[in-house]
Amino acid sequence: MKVGVVVWAEGTTVKFRILEDVTVERGDILKVEGHAVKHIIKVVDFKPETLLTPIEIARLSLKKARGEEVELYDGPLRYYDTAIATIVAEITRDGDVRRPTSVPKLFTDVYTLEEDEIEELNLDTGDIELGFVRMGSKVTTCRVSISGAKAFPHHMLICSITGGGKTNLGKVIAWNIMRLRDRRYSMVIVDTEGEYFDGGDSHHLGLVHSPSSEEGLFFVSYRVKDKGRITYRFRYNGALIERRIRACPLRISISSLHPDDFIETGEFTPPQESLLWLLWREHGDEWLDILLRRPIDSIYASLGRRVMKSTIAVTKRKVHMMIGDDGIFIEEDDYDVLGDILEAVLKGMVVLLDMPGASDAQERLLTVIVTRRIFRKYEVERRINPSRWRRYPTVIIVIEEAHRYFSKAVLMKHGERRDNIFTTISKRGRKYRVGLCCITQMPGELEETIIRQQLTKIVLPLPTKPDYSKVVNYTPYLEGAEEEIKNLERGEALLISPPSGIKFAVPLKIHQFEDLVYEELEEEVLKSKVISQDRRLKSSY
Ligand SMILES: Nc1ncnc2c1ncn2[C@@H]1O[C@H](COP(=O)(O)OP(=O)(O)OP(=O)(O)O)[C@@H](O)[C@H]1O
Ligand SMILES: [Mg+2]
Repeated sequence: MKVGVVVWAEGTTVKFRILEDVTVERGDILKVEGHAVKHIIKVVDFKPETLLTPIEIARLSLKKARGEEVELYDGPLRYYDTAIATIVAEITRDGDVRRPTSVPKLFTDVYTLEEDEIEELNLDTGDIELGFVRMGSKVTTCRVSISGAKAFPHHMLICSITGGGKTNLGKVIAWNIMRLRDRRYSMVIVDTEGEYFDGGDSHHLGLVHSPSSEEGLFFVSYRVKDKGRITYRFRYNGALIERRIRACPLRISISSLHPDDFIETGEFTPPQESLLWLLWREHGDEWLDILLRRPIDSIYASLGRRVMKSTIAVTKRKVHMMIGDDGIFIEEDDYDVLGDILEAVLKGMVVLLDMPGASDAQERLLTVIVTRRIFRKYEVERRINPSRWRRYPTVIIVIEEAHRYFSKAVLMKHGERRDNIFTTISKRGRKYRVGLCCITQMPGELEETIIRQQLTKIVLPLPTKPDYSKVVNYTPYLEGAEEEIKNLERGEALLISPPSGIKFAVPLKIHQFEDLVYEELEEEVLKSKVISQDRRLKSSY
C-alpha cells in the first residue's frame, strides 16, 4: 500500500509526505522502491509542513476554537503532514541487504512493507529467539533472533524502567538456552526475587514449567537439602505434570573465599582492603575464619598492630553482614557448591542461584564469587588446554542492577579508576567466550566505556532523559531513536546486535515467556494424552 512520497533525503534521513487518508506510526518500517535498490526506512518522528503565514495560522485556529467552519483555500498545497524516517538498510535487486550507501530520489513513492519483505532483512538467522518484528504497535509474525555464539561474548545490555519487561526477557533468553539440545551455551542467574524458578506467583510461569528444564536447568537454592534431582509437580489443563530437576543446596564453605571476592563487591575502603590482604598473607585459608571469630584485640595483636582497631571493627561488621547467618556460607569444608556450579556451566546448563530475600550485599558477594571462578576457569583452560576450552559452552552471566558494578561512582575510588571482575570481563571476556548480560533500570549511571563494550542492546521502555540519552549517545545505529524509546510500551523493544549482523534498531515485541511455555505445555499434554490413549488401546487387545 502506498503511504507517501519522498520530499527530502539527506544523509540517512528521509522525509516523506503522508498521504491524506493513511495512518503512519512511529516505528513503522516502510520501503522506498528505487530503480537499483529498495531502501528500507523506519519512521522516527513527524513534522507538519506549512506555507501558511503566522497570521493565517492565528486566524484559522481562532475560528476553529470558536467552533466556526474553517475553509483552507488550496489546503493540500499549503499544508501537509510529513514523517521523518531513518534509512536502515538497502536491498539490491539481487536480494543483498547492506548498510545504506545512497538515498532515494525526490518524489519516489513510499510503501508499506509486506511480511515476506521483512524476511528479506534476515532478522531471524540466529538461535536465540527474542520476539516478533513490530511495526509501530502492530506485531507481525516475523521472528527476530540473535546468534548466541556471536552476541554473548560481546556482552548484552538490557534496560528499561521498572516493570518494563527485563526479567521476562531474561527468562526468554534462558528458555532458548535450555531448549538447545547440543548444550552450546550456559547461563548463570542470581535471582533474589524468586521470579525465575516457578514464576513467583500464580500469574507467572518459571523455567521449571518448560519441559526442557529437566535437561537444561540446574537449580541451586538454600531450599534444597541434598544434591540430586528434585521433583516439581503442577497441573496444566487438568493434567498433572512432573518435572525432575537437577538441584543442589546453596552452601559455600567460607574457607574457599578469597579477599578479592569481598573487595570486588566495591563495599570496602582502601584501609579495609589492606586489612583483608594482610589477613590473607598472614593466615592463608584461615584468614576469614580468624576475622569473623577472633576478638578485635587478638586480630590487632596478630597483625603486629599494623591496622587500626576501628578498621578491624568496621571490616568485621561488613564481612559479617555479607556472610549473613542464614546458612548459605558455612564453616564446614565437607560441601561447597562452587564446584557443582562450575560443572553445570561446563555442561551447558542454565544455573539458577535462588536466594529470595537475600540482602543486596549478599547478592553482590555471591555474584562476584561465582563470576570470578567461571572467568578464571575459562581463562586458565584456554591457556593450558585450548582444545578442551573450545568444547566449553559459551557462557553468559546475568548481572541484575548492573549500575551497582559499573557506575562511575563505584569505579572511581579516591580519584583513580579501578577495575573489578565485571569490567575485566567487559574488556577481555570475548577472548574466552565469557559474556555478561547486564540488566539495569538506570543505564544513565553506567560508565560510557561499559555501554560501548556491550555490543548487543535491547532497550525496553525507558522514558527518562538521562537514561535514554546515554544509551543513544554511546550506541551506533540508535541515533534519532529517542522519541521511539520514550514511547515504548511494556515488552516492546529496540534491538541492536552488530555481532549478530543486526545493524539497525529493530523494533520488536519480546515474546511473553508464558506464551512460549504454554505452547510447549499444550504439546506435552496432547502427546501424553495420545500416549495414554495408545496404551489403553493396546491393553484392551
Ligand atoms: N514481552 C512481554 N509481553 C507481555 N507481558 C510482558 C512482557 N514483558 C513483561 N511482561 C509483563 O510485565 C510485567 C513486568 O515484567 P518484568 O517483571 O519482566 O519487568 P522488570 O523490568 O523485570 O521489572 P523490575 O524492574 O521491577 O524488575 C510482568 O507481569 C510480565 O509478565
Ligand atoms: Mg525484574
